[in-house]
Amino acid sequence: MTDTPRPNSLDAFWMPFTPNKAFKADPRMVVRADGMFYYTPEGRPILDGTSGLWCVAAGHNQPKIVEAIRKAAGELDYAGNFNMGHPLAFEFANRLTSLLPDRLDRVFFVNSGSESVETALKIALAYQKSRGKPNKYRLIGRERAYHGVNFGGMTVGGITRNRMNFGPMVGGVDHLPHTHDISRNAFSRGQPKHGAEYADTLERLVQLHDASTIAAVIVEPVAGSTGVLVPPEGYLQRLRELCTKHDILLIFDEVITGFGRLGAPFATQYFDVKPDIISMAKAINNATVPMGAVAASREVHDTIIAASETPIELFHGYTMTGHPLACAAGLATLEVFKEQRLFERAAELAPYWEEALHSLRDARHVIDVRNLGLIGGIELEPRPGKPTARALEAFRICFDKGLLIRVTGDIIALSPPLVIEKAQIDQIVDTIRSVLDGLE
Ligand SMILES: Cc1ncc(COP(=O)(O)O)c(C=O)c1O
Repeated sequence: MTDTPRPNSLDAFWMPFTPNKAFKADPRMVVRADGMFYYTPEGRPILDGTSGLWCVAAGHNQPKIVEAIRKAAGELDYAGNFNMGHPLAFEFANRLTSLLPDRLDRVFFVNSGSESVETALKIALAYQKSRGKPNKYRLIGRERAYHGVNFGGMTVGGITRNRMNFGPMVGGVDHLPHTHDISRNAFSRGQPKHGAEYADTLERLVQLHDASTIAAVIVEPVAGSTGVLVPPEGYLQRLRELCTKHDILLIFDEVITGFGRLGAPFATQYFDVKPDIISMAKAINNATVPMGAVAASREVHDTIIAASETPIELFHGYTMTGHPLACAAGLATLEVFKEQRLFERAAELAPYWEEALHSLRDARHVIDVRNLGLIGGIELEPRPGKPTARALEAFRICFDKGLLIRVTGDIIALSPPLVIEKAQIDQIVDTIRSVLDGLE
């Protein structure tokens, strides 16, 4: 036993992806949320320009979702899903399939985006083994990809800082180049014109490793966490063609793009490109209870089930897989999405969003603006010798002025709840312009 902690001490909580020392010297706290707003302890509203962490798609504290969680907690607080089941998990999996492409509808529940990626990668490997191709073990990720922080996702991911301190990671992984090319595509509205050919690098990796050793390619259809990298026109289609040609599975990590962010249920429908596996999380239940999921094609699922030589077909799962509260929240979330037509709403608002964001083209320090659906990226010229400093300062001042933005490197990334009003879009853009104006 150590000393009783001081009440309200900030020391014990080791905060994730946060400069702990700086935060604890100058904390920013919120204690309540409703609709488009967070509220500070003093009751000051903060307009949520980022849906929390890209996850509160339906806006905060939707009464229907809150009520569903309350009810579920009072009925069945917990039940595992190993060799025993509860109806909410089956019902939620069934309901999710209505948003998924045809025959991509076998759903495995997890508790986060990171776990959904690990699960997707393991399913891909298990599939190749099950169909008698155990040598197909390589996983291909992409530079500047973010697939969470667990070992598989970190390895296929492409963020140097996230990888460099954690040893040799998972073997047999290689990377495609990222598609970000400001020299040709700056200020693109929607998908950039140039860069479909970046997908052809997969041919080079196939020549290097041979397709008989490659299990799967994983990409975010739109990379969010590394600064809103929108795929060039034709890029995802080309990747799909090459994966099919070489008998390689294609995994879409839709942790950010899932659940209406682009104005369609998933990016797969938006781009009309069908992967074999989809990882998802975040907005799956409006981020009210930790949850993620993987959707696998029938081919992948049925092959693993049929080939199994043991009663358990896939040796994988979590204590919290399909937690009753998470499933109840998910079912209510899907109802809210439908009743409030939030995916359609995102599609309808997207042109206004695009216009508003691109009005920042001439704002101080801005070197690129990009957008798709209700996602926006504003790239700033870094301060000489001090990368990220300018964006971090912008983040702090925006918060003081009542706006939550997200910054990654020197990029402001925006992803408001799909319930946002046009006047609030204007508020986001006006605040960012005035903050950038005053910033050195
Ligand atoms: C594409 C993608 N995959 C995975 C993750 C990891 O999700 P989580 O933080 O829930 O583990 C994220 C988080 O932002 C993400 O954007």
